[in-house]
Amino acid sequence: MLDILTDPVSASAWCHNHRMLNHSIGYVPTMGALHAGHLSLIERAIAENDVSCVSVFVNPLQFNDPQDYRSYPRDLKSDCKILREFGCDMVFTGGNREMFPEASSIEDVEIVDPGRFAHGLEGEFRPGHLEGVCTVVDRLFRFVGPCRAYFGLKDFQQLLVIQNLADQLGYPEVIPCTTIRDKLGLALSSRNQLIKPADLTIAAQIHRALLSARQHWQSKDRDCDSLRTAMDRVLSGTTLKVEYADVRDPVKWQGESPTGEMPRAVALIAARINDVRLIDNLRLDQSECLTEPQ
Ligand code: PAJ
Repeated sequence: MLDILTDPVSASAWCHNHRMLNHSIGYVPTMGALHAGHLSLIERAIAENDVSCVSVFVNPLQFNDPQDYRSYPRDLKSDCKILREFGCDMVFTGGNREMFPEASSIEDVEIVDPGRFAHGLEGEFRPGHLEGVCTVVDRLFRFVGPCRAYFGLKDFQQLLVIQNLADQLGYPEVIPCTTIRDKLGLALSSRNQLIKPADLTIAAQIHRALLSARQHWQSKDRDCDSLRTAMDRVLSGTTLKVEYADVRDPVKWQGESPTGEMPRAVALIAARINDVRLIDNLRLDQSECLTEPQ
């Protein structure tokens, strides 16, 4: 049975009671409009724990563009139906008032510092975004308490910020999960609903660009500039508006090493197709276990 809770105090008590029974808790924070990417996390949370919970909250603090916040897909009824069918045990669906009871407006919420992994890329192109993510996830983690929390590698920089937050809090155990893609390679995202069908093949060039960087890496061409050039070559022939196509050390979160050669690397891209902003990434030094296309 799915418990639908809107009050953080009740959600905390639900989790606390399960911990008292020695139940392990799997937790998946989301902004709803659930798709197969979210569901892969939820399936793991259910399979690997005694009980599972999901939060659905479209967090206004992480939208640096008010239009993006307004147009973000929302369908709580369908989300709850999916969660019930999947066998999830609890969903927390509180709104702004429940999440930020102390603040008379969103501007009054005290922001949590997202730390050094927020520097560059998303931190540069979406000012305030990772601060907003960190602020809300900090609260959600405190509501839920010690658990296993599942996050997608699709939002690579977010994952680093959240892992760092969890290290500071001392909980939860953060479990990174593989990116789920469609048959063209496009990473699933709630925002994909906003892409015109004719633009989907163009959007999938993001993944092709990442694969091209990986090919260079695998043929020992590991210079930062040539990896960037490989991605640019694919992207420049499209109508995508690229914000960044860059390479970082996935652990230290540094750009180019002094020699230009990267000992390990993740390639990351943010681009817009019409007004829809998409992000994706790929580890170049690992063969991501490619999941079945959806
Ligand atoms: P949202 O975009 O709803 O994503 C919720 C979780 O699903 C994140 O951990 C994200 O990385 C993961 N996810 C999204 N698409 C995925 C895909 N194609 N494959 C695998 N995992 C995928 O990320 C957020 O919400 C918010 O920033 C949040 C952490 C909930 C804070 O508000």
